Amino acid sequence: MLLPDKLPRVGTTIFTVMSQLATETGALNLSQGFPGFDCDPALTALVDEHMRAGRNQYAPMTGVPVLRERLAQKTAEQYGVSYDPDTEVTIVSGATEAIFAAVTAVVQPGDEVIVFEPAYDSYVPTIDLNGGIPVYITLTPPDYAVDWSVVEEAITDRTRLIMVNTPHNPTGRCWTRDDLDQLARLVQDRNIWLVSDEVYEHILFDGRTHQSLMTHPVLRDRTFVVGSFGKTFHITGWKIGYCLASAPLTAAFRKIHQYVTFSTVTPMQYAIADYLAEPARYQQLPAFYQRKRDLFLAGIANSRFRSTPAEGSFFQCVAYDAITDEPDYDLAIRLTKEIGVASIPTSVFYHQQNDYHILRFCFAKTDDVIQEAAERLSKL
Ligand SMILES: Cc1ncc(COP(=O)(O)O)c(C=O)c1O
Repeated sequence: MLLPDKLPRVGTTIFTVMSQLATETGALNLSQGFPGFDCDPALTALVDEHMRAGRNQYAPMTGVPVLRERLAQKTAEQYGVSYDPDTEVTIVSGATEAIFAAVTAVVQPGDEVIVFEPAYDSYVPTIDLNGGIPVYITLTPPDYAVDWSVVEEAITDRTRLIMVNTPHNPTGRCWTRDDLDQLARLVQDRNIWLVSDEVYEHILFDGRTHQSLMTHPVLRDRTFVVGSFGKTFHITGWKIGYCLASAPLTAAFRKIHQYVTFSTVTPMQYAIADYLAEPARYQQLPAFYQRKRDLFLAGIANSRFRSTPAEGSFFQCVAYDAITDEPDYDLAIRLTKEIGVASIPTSVFYHQQNDYHILRFCFAKTDDVIQEAAERLSKL
């Protein structure tokens, strides 16, 4: 019997390859995007408390009410935008599930979906599984800016969805208000929805403010805003994310979510709800990560790597043209084996593996790991 392959373009992801190689070789792992330090013990204590209090059965399909309410409250305080916790807020098992449910809710076979690349790796397989057609807008270094006339040309009668990600993985670039205005201009008279992946909403540097699509009046009602507590509270292993969207979009989203996971882990939702009570816990993130970014940049300042400081996220891209003309994939493997520093080649984020000789390093690591990695890279 021949097993049909629904995702023929997908093999083992680079994240698995690099992390496995880092483990085998004992390399410093700056490849995969997860914190190399633990979350606040106050947060795990809250989980313990809720587990002992017997909150261990299925949560409601939409998420526990107190978490939806606190998230709506936080969103209103932060962005001045209100979402109804009952009809417009859904807690899911990670941003990845939210992206899957949102894309599945709107994409029909043959629909075109605009994807800015380099792109986070789950977008295109999700579009493919729904029979959608990815239409790529290629962003290039050093600034990865969006040329809105190119986007305008890419839009057709079959365009149904545009995928947005700000702050951006892997480039660390953040959209400006002007980007939102340009997007609004293009979609306002068309039947186009938006998925806005904003998992790094709290990680912006040098005084920047996050431009959430929800804050734009034209965009708010046509956007699935996707977030993740994993990135905000250093708990990527808990896989808890959420979707904020207008009531009709949320209804469509929940139809999918209920048959993917139905509901999300209960005691963690209660713990996060309690933990959200102190805004300082997420408000200090820009300073926390900016210091780490700067530590990494200072560490490679005298090396032959070149970089534009990341505007947000916990990734720093660096160009290595001055060192070698090897393909980025080969160099990432070689650096892991030879100097013990694992990174991600940015070509993997392009559908045709465009190689601009740039590696992505995750600086969500302890200071000693960042310093040691930078020292090793500086010797090249
Ligand atoms: C841009 C982006 N979106 C989504 C995710 C996935 O988030 P989660 O772990 O909550 O599924 C990640 C994780 O690396 C990411 O970088």
